[in-house]
Amino acid sequence: MHFNKSKFLSIAAVLASVPTTVMAQAGFCPEALRYGSVSISPSTVSPGQTFTVTANLTCAIQLDNTPTFLDYYIDATATHTVSGPILIARRTYDNSTSPPIDQFTATLPNWYYYTDATYTFVMDNSFARPGPTGESVITVGGTEAGITITGI
Ligand SMILES: *[C@@H]1O[C@H](CO)[C@@H](O)[C@H](O)[C@H]1NC(C)=O
Ligand SMILES: *[C@@H]1O[C@H](CO)[C@@H](O)[C@H](O)[C@H]1NC(C)=O
Repeated sequence: MHFNKSKFLSIAAVLASVPTTVMAQAGFCPEALRYGSVSISPSTVSPGQTFTVTANLTCAIQLDNTPTFLDYYIDATATHTVSGPILIARRTYDNSTSPPIDQFTATLPNWYYYTDATYTFVMDNSFARPGPTGESVITVGGTEAGITITGI
């Protein structure tokens, strides 16, 4: 609750302080994009195949969630037990990157995939915030994209 309230107040402060011309250029950032957005191409891959990961951190930075680290996973859900998320990449984010895009090539690892499972590609944004004593604390927020795994 307290977190939501402070987030609302910080957005209100940003809206109040940014001139309208800059707002129009930067575009409006909805709450859904507060940790950034991620996409993969192609979105259908088989084990051993490479794909391009593109994360857009414009809104994360604009909403004060500037990444320190970006962790990328493939997660699965199924009606039976599946292993925990597979780590695809762990990257340190450089906030001087312009435009604020993190793009790289990844390879789908050979792992135990299931034809009846639903897979998602997850990006975890770890960002620093000052705590009650001013000490910097890293918290994590995630966003995801669909991925279809074939050839299994
Ligand atoms: C990144 O996201 C922002 C905000 O949604 C958008 O204006 C911009 O065009 C995006 N950049 C790219 C390269 O997709
Ligand atoms: C990241 O850079 C943006 C400007 O591009 C700035 O507004 C923001 O405060 C920076 N964040 C951190 C944590 O340095």
